[in-house]
Amino acid sequence: MMDVQIERAKRDDFAEMITLADMTLPDRMNLHELKKYMELFPELIFKATCNNLLIGFSCAGIDMYQSTGWLLFSNVRKEFQGQGIGKRFIEARLQALRQFPTLRTIRVTVSETNMPSIRALEAFGFRLAQAEQDYYGPGKHRNVMELPILSVATTVSPQIDVSVEPVL
Ligand SMILES: CC(C)(COP(=O)(O)OP(=O)(O)OC[C@H]1O[C@@H](n2cnc3c(N)ncnc32)[C@H](O)[C@@H]1OP(=O)(O)O)[C@@H](O)C(=O)NCCC(=O)NCCS
Repeated sequence: MMDVQIERAKRDDFAEMITLADMTLPDRMNLHELKKYMELFPELIFKATCNNLLIGFSCAGIDMYQSTGWLLFSNVRKEFQGQGIGKRFIEARLQALRQFPTLRTIRVTVSETNMPSIRALEAFGFRLAQAEQDYYGPGKHRNVMELPILSVATTVSPQIDVSVEPVL
């Protein structure tokens, strides 16, 4: 039985993380970007290990008002893809982002051809918000998907639907 652990990544993991990212998604992540993510959002970077081997990692971020969270990057070693690890990464980041009480929405950009990512995001309730032409340069379109977050204040305060007549 394969035992995959998901936990917060540390600086010691950097070298292995970059080696992995270069294999799974070349020309997207690099050491400098990863270091910035770690400085900005140390609580929002997760790794997956199997028998102490790094088999994936994922990053999230949040804007300075702590209202918009972003899923920034995710990758799983090829031999381990399709086993639910990508979804566990989404879950870990959603849970970490939900610790911010002012969070209102979570956004993510995804290539419209990246079906594993889109299906996994849809399973968590993400929906297409807008299509961005040439987002990463000519021809590199991206879709922005979004997950609205119900604030606790909205769910506990009485919401009276004025369009419905009360039954007497
Ligand atoms: C995207 C990625 C992180 C997903 O991780 P994963 O562990 O393979 O994902 P999961 O096993 O949780 O599967 C997620 C969904 O994709 C589907 N899926 C997995 N592999 C698939 C494949 N090769 N083709 C189509 N669908 C696939 C799963 O069935 C699941 O959908 P479902 O719940 O509707 O069945 C991983 O495929 C990856 O590292 N890809 C390369 C890097 C990348 O594109 N990163 C995203 C941009 S930053």
